Amino acid sequence: MCRDPGLVPRAVLECLRYEPAVASVPRVTLEDIVLDGTLLPGGRALSLSTLSAMRDPALYSDPDRLDIRRADPPRRHPVFGGGVHRCLGEALAKVELEEGLAALARRLPALELDGGPVTVQGAFGIRSVHGLRVRWGRGNG
Ligand code: HEM
Repeated sequence: MCRDPGLVPRAVLECLRYEPAVASVPRVTLEDIVLDGTLLPGGRALSLSTLSAMRDPALYSDPDRLDIRRADPPRRHPVFGGGVHRCLGEALAKVELEEGLAALARRLPALELDGGPVTVQGAFGIRSVHGLRVRWGRGNG
């Protein structure tokens, strides 16, 4: 990405797929629904796992691999949900992430983790990290 800033938009899509900021969307069934042969009873709270959908091998080749050059990037990205409640801030979120990443790659190309890798916590709703320590050294201007 530092060598080829043109990859930034694809990196944003792939990172949102691989370690999404949102893992699921909640819904309540108003009536019985049969989905792929499974009955979802009416009157129940559901958590629809977009986290799982984004690792679906039927949709993405080698889904457990982070690959910012993948040939099958998410098109209508599941991380922003679907239907009438699909994220209203999708375009803004993508622009913010693209601009932020591009600025970091340009201004601090030697930025690196200070310590071990962090774990993104949470399998439902909004996910987060407890802290992200980084450092930069001589490679930066
Ligand atoms: C990477 C960043 C973001 C992700 C992954 C994300 C994800 C989502 C998801 C999955 C939903 C659907 C929830 C559901 O169907 O129950 C949603 C809804 C929504 N998002 Fe985002 N979002 C992001 C950033 C933003 C930003 C920056 C804004 C506004 C500035 C925003 C505003 C909204 C609003 C207003 C809704 C509700 C839409 C509705 O119910 O009709 N989001 N978002």
